[in-house]
Amino acid sequence: MSDVHTSLIARLRDDLTAARFTVGHLEELWGVDAAAALGRGHRVAAERALGRLGATDPAATLARVFVLGLTVGADELAGALPTLGLEGAIELGLATAGGAPMLDLRPYAFTDDWGPAEWWVASDLGELALGSALPEDHVLGVGGASITLAGLQVQKSSRRTLDLGTGCGIQAMHASRHSGRVVATDISRRALEIAALNAELNNIHSIEFRLGDMFEPVAGETFDYIVTNPPFVITPRRPGVPTYEYRDAGRVGDAIVAEVVAGASRHLAPGGIAQLLGNWEYRDGRPGLERIASWLDSAELDGWVVERETQDPALYAETWIRDGGTRVGAESDDLENAWLDDFEARGVTAVGFGYVTLRKPGGGLEAPGTSHLRRLEQLDGPVATGLGAQIEATLAGHDWQARRDDAELARALLTAAPDVTEERHYWPGDEHPAVMNLVQGGGFRRSYPLGTALAAVVGACDGELSVGAICAAVSELLEVDSAALLDDVLPGIRELVTVGMLLP
Ligand SMILES: C[S@@+](CC[C@H](N)C(=O)[O-])C[C@H]1O[C@@H](n2cnc3c(N)ncnc32)[C@H](O)[C@@H]1O
Repeated sequence: MSDVHTSLIARLRDDLTAARFTVGHLEELWGVDAAAALGRGHRVAAERALGRLGATDPAATLARVFVLGLTVGADELAGALPTLGLEGAIELGLATAGGAPMLDLRPYAFTDDWGPAEWWVASDLGELALGSALPEDHVLGVGGASITLAGLQVQKSSRRTLDLGTGCGIQAMHASRHSGRVVATDISRRALEIAALNAELNNIHSIEFRLGDMFEPVAGETFDYIVTNPPFVITPRRPGVPTYEYRDAGRVGDAIVAEVVAGASRHLAPGGIAQLLGNWEYRDGRPGLERIASWLDSAELDGWVVERETQDPALYAETWIRDGGTRVGAESDDLENAWLDDFEARGVTAVGFGYVTLRKPGGGLEAPGTSHLRRLEQLDGPVATGLGAQIEATLAGHDWQARRDDAELARALLTAAPDVTEERHYWPGDEHPAVMNLVQGGGFRRSYPLGTALAAVVGACDGELSVGAICAAVSELLEVDSAALLDDVLPGIRELVTVGMLLP
């Protein structure tokens, strides 16, 4: 970045700070209902609220231009950017001489392990501002998937991090909070320019930006942490079907996710972790999770895949045709046919979406004989915020129990986690519960079914008695053999330790 740009960006930062261009202040200006409408892609309520303020508040002017995508006129915009000036805004590619936006720029608030923080994030103008479908080289702003992945990031400190397909730079910026150095790559030069602007604007100086296809810009290098929201949208390879750079890397089917998994294996240092979002196909009725498991096997990586949802081929096609801005009509019908033909050609019956956490073995975590992490699960219910901490705890929980054989586990003192409650369901009039579940309040909000013995053992886990001693007492109560009861409950205990419902 040139010195001129650095100094212009500093002036922009001063103006945004002085204007109180923050999530909280904008919400004060337009109210929660308009904020919710904006979240649904509708700007009229916010426009009306800001219109009532006129040009009295510079944050309102900046929001009209850079969030709602409206043209306010040169003088009003210049007044809201007194230090940068309109010329500076034009030079930075933010606005036109007529006071119309050239980029989207908005405040973004979040909370991570270091507490609450706020940035400004620039990206390409969206559909609202353009009034038309997105161009194929659109640089995405912070969307639902970006926020999901940012929240999943394991915030354990990393010396070197890779953000592959950085877009506006959001994952790299989050990773900079727990990494010494971040390398952020993208195939789009424009994305890298916008990401560099964002990093500079937010005073983040530990990110290096590199241009190139997939892992090519980091050939031969390894990282402690890789985060990527890859362009995983399955797209038919047929002339006339738009290929949006932000969501599609030109591969066939779900090959991009297989490629990321294989690349992570080559580019993770021993013990290193990779996290990504992805889609995987169900082919000929076989679960998509089996497909991704085969990629993990070939890559010889530890892996944990959480499938959050599945869509049938028609719903998948509709979702992504609409995402590109194509409305119902002949063009949309044509595209739906292209998607359904493509799915049929590979026998695709559904598409899974979810979170993937990978780990390169060899980080000194494993004792000899320790089983590698391989979890494949469907968790489609509501989840709590702060999943990154839960993922880190699950990796640690897995390692803790995997390092212990059954005899050692029986000697362990365990405690039920503070967010765990027991749920009992009774047939009307019955004294004994028909169903008992252990329910997690945080994280993935899991529900784990309990048999009588496991319920009694978990109920007595208060860190005072060993698992073996509790099992002996419970076996007396239930009048069953204590060794058999221990064998019966230990797999459940291992699972509950892994998922953080029982704590060592
Ligand atoms: C879904 S966006 C993710 C953006 C951002 N990381 C986020 O989380 O919001 C995918 C990004 O990958 C980039 N991309 C597409 N094809 C690529 C390729 N072959 N190699 C590297 N990056 C690519 C796109 O330009 C886009 O910025």
